[in-house]
Amino acid sequence: MLNFLNKKKNNENEQLFDCHKPIPQHIAIIMDGNGRWAKKRFMPRIAGHKEGMSNVKRITKHASKLGVKVLTLYAFSTENWKRPNDEVDFLMRLPVDFFDEFVPELIKENVQVKVMGYTDYLPKHTQKAVENAIEQTKNNTGMILNFALNYGSRAEILTAVNQMISDAKENRIKEEITEEIFSDYLMTGTLDPSLRDPELLIRTSGEERISNFLLWQIAYSELVFTNEFWPDFSIENFEQAIGLFQTRNRRFGGLNETSKGDGN
Ligand code: FPP
Repeated sequence: MLNFLNKKKNNENEQLFDCHKPIPQHIAIIMDGNGRWAKKRFMPRIAGHKEGMSNVKRITKHASKLGVKVLTLYAFSTENWKRPNDEVDFLMRLPVDFFDEFVPELIKENVQVKVMGYTDYLPKHTQKAVENAIEQTKNNTGMILNFALNYGSRAEILTAVNQMISDAKENRIKEEITEEIFSDYLMTGTLDPSLRDPELLIRTSGEERISNFLLWQIAYSELVFTNEFWPDFSIENFEQAIGLFQTRNRRFGGLNETSKGDGN
């Protein structure tokens, strides 16, 4: 667990990571702790989600400014339907408000919206908001803002397997399945092959779980767990997570010159 020092910037242009080292191109975030953020303030849980939505804007703009190529945000899991109806209704309304308010800015920032998940099961108003945002930003060439909405990684893997079986029966797959072919069938398969797997996965709120998020894709991701609840997760915290990523020795199972470890 990383207890951030909560460093503050001395000025707006100061960066809390090493600007001479590469930053992760694909960052994924499990935005956890909205409910506890609200509880701590004696507010209803939905107030935490609303504040969480504002933070999505703040972190999106900052990630785009830093030159991140893909930002994947876990906004609603296939398991989140188990929550009380009024909370689910509120969460389903959030994309409508978010895109209503934020699409003009996303266009200005050249950010392209993508959504991965079982979107057919979302309420019609949510589906429409998502489709409009995708359509309105489809020609943008900057950062991809990829929302995982009604997403679950085990379901994603099973869908991919079933699709491969069906394609094999119809002779559309003739060769042995490789990791590359398998990756093509996942929901991240629409991303550039070099960007499908997040290099960095951040989870806020002190929990240290993956919660059915991108199980295949994070095989070699660096993991950063932070104590901040998502609404409190600041651009300073984001930069510090990038800084921490830069200190990691990524070996992908091999060895490097200085490594005497077991190579994992
Ligand atoms: C987990 O916190 C958070 C969610 C299930 C929802 C995340 C959604 C947002 C941050 C807003 C998304 C915005 C858009 C535009 C879709 P929790 O409720 O489980 O928190 P808790 O663990 O403290 O109860």
